[in-house]
Amino acid sequence: MFNKIAQYYDMIMEPFDYNDLVDYLDDLIINAGGERTNILDLGCGTSEELIYFRQLGYEVAGLDNSEEMINISKYKHPGVDFFQADMTNFKLKRKFDNVISCFDTINYITDKNKLSRCFAATNKVMNADGIFIFDFNTVFGLINEWEGVRIEETDQFFISYDSKFNYDTLILECKMKFFIKEEEGKYASFNETHYERGYTSDEIKELLKLNGFKLVKLLPFLKKKAVKDTKLDRYQAVAVKIKEI
Ligand SMILES: C[S@@+](CC[C@H](N)C(=O)[O-])C[C@H]1O[C@@H](n2cnc3c(N)ncnc32)[C@H](O)[C@@H]1O
Repeated sequence: MFNKIAQYYDMIMEPFDYNDLVDYLDDLIINAGGERTNILDLGCGTSEELIYFRQLGYEVAGLDNSEEMINISKYKHPGVDFFQADMTNFKLKRKFDNVISCFDTINYITDKNKLSRCFAATNKVMNADGIFIFDFNTVFGLINEWEGVRIEETDQFFISYDSKFNYDTLILECKMKFFIKEEEGKYASFNETHYERGYTSDEIKELLKLNGFKLVKLLPFLKKKAVKDTKLDRYQAVAVKIKEI
């Protein structure tokens, strides 16, 4: 899925401030009783987050199933461990105190049983009391924020998103067309279709519990205080490993 997009990913994400995101995540880790020791990024993509985690003193590692994403990450972070693996089925030789997964990565696991396997595999690579932090799109969010046709246009690219939500499977199919400006009047063009499964907060809570985690915070994405609103498009989950499974 993320192969053609990989070389343009940082350009497309440029409007987003990863430094702010990392300050937010670091705050959540420290407030949950964690420390700036080491961190594994699941679905690391091009590993922008890891630049800022390293600046804060964390020792970092990343895992992604896209060969292109892993190659870009290795180029950006020489000497850092990157693993090309499926996050629903992986084993590592070492353990981490902190694990993160950012920007809808969890939603790319479109089968609930596989998400459970991802949480189980994550538990096994974490130390006791480790902190596991991830965001996820809700069913509400995929329907309200994504369904239909949208476009995104900057001086550097034009992207169209044509999305359909399947109410039986809770999976959104998003057909994307990319036009990337290479030089004046010349564009690279390619298509990618992505699938995201919306999860409810109850499903996430249940799967975390089943796999040895306690959900300690469920926040609106990028916010520090929980709200009662049940119509949130994206959550930030903070979980602590409470037992080995
Ligand atoms: C939306 S991108 C997020 C990238 C990065 N975390 C960020 O914040 O910019 C999702 C990433 O998850 C990876 N991914 C999706 N499904 C995966 C799986 N089953 N195992 C490992 N990586 C996966 C994709 O290759 C992609 O790099």
